[in-house]
Amino acid sequence: MSIKIKGHTISNVVLSTAMGHSGRGMRELFWSRDYQNVKKAIKRNKLTIFAKSSTYRKHKGNFRLFNPFTWGCIRRFGYNGMINAYGLTNDGTKVNAQKIARAIEKGDNVIPNFYPQFAIGRRDAIEEAIYAMIEYDAYLRNYFWAVEFNFSCPNAEERIQENMQDALACVSAVRREKPQLCQIAKISIVHPHEFAQRLVDAGVDIVHAINTIPHGLLSKGERENRKSPLWKYGGGGVSGGPIFPQAFAYNEELRKVIPKTPIIMGGGVTGPTQVRKYFAAGANAVSMCTAIRTCPVEAINAINEYAAEEAAYEQIGEIINKAAFID
Ligand SMILES: Cc1cc2nc3c(=O)[nH]c(=O)nc-3n(C[C@H](O)[C@H](O)[C@H](O)COP(=O)(O)O)c2cc1C
Repeated sequence: MSIKIKGHTISNVVLSTAMGHSGRGMRELFWSRDYQNVKKAIKRNKLTIFAKSSTYRKHKGNFRLFNPFTWGCIRRFGYNGMINAYGLTNDGTKVNAQKIARAIEKGDNVIPNFYPQFAIGRRDAIEEAIYAMIEYDAYLRNYFWAVEFNFSCPNAEERIQENMQDALACVSAVRREKPQLCQIAKISIVHPHEFAQRLVDAGVDIVHAINTIPHGLLSKGERENRKSPLWKYGGGGVSGGPIFPQAFAYNEELRKVIPKTPIIMGGGVTGPTQVRKYFAAGANAVSMCTAIRTCPVEAINAINEYAAEEAAYEQIGEIINKAAFID
């Protein structure tokens, strides 16, 4: 159920970006009792946490914590869903790597997520990506065994559909520089499934699908034929409940295209039901983000249910191992 790779484990249920740039939680949500309960469940079950995306340099996106005029670019949308045009606001890799190092010191299993800014040009973006890996190495040391590349943000300057050659070049360059590093590629519904196979050929070890769905690509029923409330920001990306049918269909097909590569399936998980469906479709792990905010009680149920299942698997494994030594 979980992913065992390069001597490390990724839990069967993972948290995707919902715990902020450090992986320890978002400052703006600290007051929420539900959020604190989710944090406790994550810690108790030692879940893998993917940090929120970092760019190499400090980046001002649309959302700014201390500017209330920008708060509207993250909103509720549909049933248990959200729409956002956050736009990658962050302090840059050096600061984020230090925050992640502190989280790891406190016992959190955090994997950094990096966003290569191909809009500055492929060569420069890849150079920055390599420098970012050096920063992570410096601060995380032995704990820097994996990185997730975000090739799929719908709220950035880059056009995700056109960034595929850049992404492949980036993966190959990082593979050359750091052959032991586990590379996880986070892709989008706009990417053809074959792109995942090409990423694997270039050096990706795990594929994570999918990121938020651009509002314009949401199925008509979920869009309710409405203009996006975030049209000013280019439409924004939809997550949580409304995207499950499309995210599931994409992942089902993806399983057929890359039958042997571990896949973290996600998009639209709002409780144990969707987690179960993704595992039935061949997921090696399942990710959650929006549910942490929109339906935290159901999110905790999913975490507890699958952590218990994992513990049972491990126990059975131990019994079988012991039995193997009995004549
Ligand atoms: C407010 C918000 C901010 C997000 N920021 C990032 C990000 O920085 N990097 C990233 O790779 N994904 C980001 N995501 C995408 C989520 O990690 C997740 O892949 C997506 O929302 C689909 O999963 P869900 O339906 O469980 O939310 C963000 C999602 C939301 C709602």
